[in-house]
Amino acid sequence: MAKPAKSFVCSACGSVFPKWAGRCEACGAWNTLEEQAAIPALPGGLKTTGNARGKKIEFVGLSGITPPPPRVPTTIAEFDRVLGGGLVPASVVLVGGDPGIGKSTLLLQAGAALGCAGSQVIYISGEESVDQIRMRAARLGLSSAPMHLAATTQLGDILASLAQFPDAALVVIDSIQTMWTESVDSAPGSVTQVRAAAFELIRAAKSQGFALMLVGHVTKEGNLAGPRVLEHMVDVVLHFEGDRGHQFRILRGVKNRFGATDEIGVFEMTGGGLAQVLNPSALFLAERRGNVSGSAVFAGLEGSRPVLVEIQVLLAPNPGGSPRRSVIGWDSGRLSMLLAVLESRCGLKLAMNDVYLNVAGGLRVTEPAADMAVAAALISAASDVPTDPSMVFFGEIGLSGELRQVAQAELRLKEAAKLGFAQAAAPKRVAGGAGRIAIPSSLKLLEIGHLTDLVGIAT
Ligand code: TYD
Ligand code: MG
Repeated sequence: MAKPAKSFVCSACGSVFPKWAGRCEACGAWNTLEEQAAIPALPGGLKTTGNARGKKIEFVGLSGITPPPPRVPTTIAEFDRVLGGGLVPASVVLVGGDPGIGKSTLLLQAGAALGCAGSQVIYISGEESVDQIRMRAARLGLSSAPMHLAATTQLGDILASLAQFPDAALVVIDSIQTMWTESVDSAPGSVTQVRAAAFELIRAAKSQGFALMLVGHVTKEGNLAGPRVLEHMVDVVLHFEGDRGHQFRILRGVKNRFGATDEIGVFEMTGGGLAQVLNPSALFLAERRGNVSGSAVFAGLEGSRPVLVEIQVLLAPNPGGSPRRSVIGWDSGRLSMLLAVLESRCGLKLAMNDVYLNVAGGLRVTEPAADMAVAAALISAASDVPTDPSMVFFGEIGLSGELRQVAQAELRLKEAAKLGFAQAAAPKRVAGGAGRIAIPSSLKLLEIGHLTDLVGIAT
């Protein structure tokens, strides 16, 4: 068989090209193509072990299920929720996030919790020395937690040492970009190295049965650095996000072969490490001031969990030139759409204003259900009349200004009632239709059919 020719791989998106170029044709990034050592075709790093003919595969029918092994809860409820109920033995979890966001802290705490619950935990750092990790553990009050700690970047040494721990439940590798394997002839951190190192670790996890947690760095754009390929190789991808200016951090499930994605776990970075936030709505609304115009509370949903957040809008007159649209925590395209709908369907004059929109607390809202809360905040800012502080808003807005249904209205209403809100503005027929929902008795429901109705209510 002919030897595979040299190829070049983009370190941003993982696309492979036969020739080098200054710009990746697939993702458009500049200067990201690296030469890749000639490795056999998919999956990366798979080598024939001398037995080139292979053995016969035993095929089976569709019926019959081997019961899944029980999950191992880390005992950190917010972490377990995102994992789908705990760690699955022999699974691989990739935790990505900006530098300094708290990935090492989170995994040290999760590992220590698991260790204290009686599981064998191994923590290998390629970024920090043993003393640095011990100092952090001391700060977190975890010095006495049972854990096998090492600092190295040599993958060969790691694999040889892991064999001594047949009962290991969890192996943490911090971070995969620092690991280096001799079997591939390229620099640490390069796509080829990262992929080969991950492949060998994953193979060890599957054969020895431990859960593997890999820390991965992210690029400026928020993608997991190096190869996206890594995301395809692992079972679970979690993003640890948050604004370094705010204390709280969100662990978000992006991919999960064993549970729902889009779940979030909320933590607060304190002097003593990451603390779980069991009631995020209360935290996000803690600093809300009642009678200020331009603010509305959105009854949102993150995964299966209702979260109330405050949407803030500030309008500043800008008579000349092109007005600014500055959005933090929401989609700027959707804001433009809402502004256009408010102008053309409700006659609101906003074009001569700079618009600043902020989701208070640093949460990133992705649901279209936030449309109504944003519209209410815009109407309130334009008329300088505060929205009713006891009211929450949710509903998607269409281009003709009509309000559309959103998922899980019941959960949103329940959360609003739980936090003491007295009224909820929701799309029409929210309580009717196919699945009747229970409305909490303490909550008055205002059904809104069109945005023009909201103009009367929001202010
Ligand atoms: P770290 O876990 O090292 O981040 P990452 O591994 O994602 O790069 O967290 C670093 C930040 O967390 C650092 O800026 C200090 C802060 N921190 C606290 O505020 N309290 C603590 O108890 C700890 C351990 C860290
Ligand atoms: Mg770290």
